[in-house]
Amino acid sequence: MPLEKSSYLSDTWKDGLFKNKVVFCTGGAGTICSAQVRALVHLGANACIVGRNVEKTEKAARDIATARAGAKVLGIGAVDVRSLESLQGAVERCVSELGAIDYVIAGAAGNFLASINQISVNAFKSVMEIDVQGSYNTLKATIPHLIESAQKHRVDSTSLKPSPTGTGGRIIFVSATLHYTGTPFQAHVSVAKAGIDALSNSVALEFGPLGVTSNVIAPGPIASTEGLDRLLPSDKLDKIKRSQPLGRFGSVRDIADATVYLFADTGSYVSGQILVVDGASWRISSAGIGSSDYPDFLLSGDTFENVKGKKKAKL
Ligand code: HXC
Repeated sequence: MPLEKSSYLSDTWKDGLFKNKVVFCTGGAGTICSAQVRALVHLGANACIVGRNVEKTEKAARDIATARAGAKVLGIGAVDVRSLESLQGAVERCVSELGAIDYVIAGAAGNFLASINQISVNAFKSVMEIDVQGSYNTLKATIPHLIESAQKHRVDSTSLKPSPTGTGGRIIFVSATLHYTGTPFQAHVSVAKAGIDALSNSVALEFGPLGVTSNVIAPGPIASTEGLDRLLPSDKLDKIKRSQPLGRFGSVRDIADATVYLFADTGSYVSGQILVVDGASWRISSAGIGSSDYPDFLLSGDTFENVKGKKKAKL
């Protein structure tokens, strides 16, 4: 059964906007990235999503394909962004089966709540490798195709007319806002996401002359996502929600709409930017993440309760 469009895309965009375009997305079976891809597919794109879990990735691809009759969505499992070779294999398959890569979403990420004392050297390294190295590997594996697409669909620099074949050559890195103020129990992810932001800025500078745009989307607390399950205790959700500046969490549709904006003509002169989609949440500091009873909780050595992926604290 196709999902109700209003759950992943607003009515603002015209159908066919991304006709004949292909998006390649890491972490594409995840809650946020699958909504981003589903929105693009609804608007005409074909897609290739990759992930570590074969069954989950293939199932998500079949599900996303229901967004538009005739859509082609490849789901390639057993792809770990920590391995350039596995990504390159997926990229090759994507291009040979779908014809090109016009857009990339680097969305694969790893997260859990843990203090600096609690996290092992290997756990810190795992998050850095998934988030930072994984984003870099994704870029490395796809950039030749992004350059090709950018050249094909370039805005005319004299007339400023958009290409009649639409846009291409765009990458979005999915980051976070955790490192803007600093967030307890999120040192590993804060370091990683700061690195991703820096990477995107460098991509904008180095590949801008070839027509490629690079931007970051930084989601705030987005309802019903893996990130929220891992970071906010389920028994405190209502209270934290009420304390948000807009009185609600974001929806995956908010992130999908931002993605469409950046990939469509509306984003043609937007590059090297971080688009924060968080309803001003980070301005109230940490958005409740890890802040319950801070610092008493940190000093107690207790276990995080009611979050996914919890582990006993180590002091
Ligand atoms: C401390 C932990 C831990 C925890 C795992 N580890 N969970 N340490 N607290 N809760 C440690 C393990 O003990 C191990 O270290 C090391 O991390 C690697 O874990 P493994 O399970 O061996 O394997 P790996 O596949 O590398 O694990 C990756 C992972 C895992 C990131 C650690 O959590 C994972 O696969 N997560 C799924 C994806 C995910 O997290 N998605 C959510 C993204 S949300 P040792 O020393 O024992 O070997 C997101 C939101 C951003 O990014 C912010 C939004 C606001």
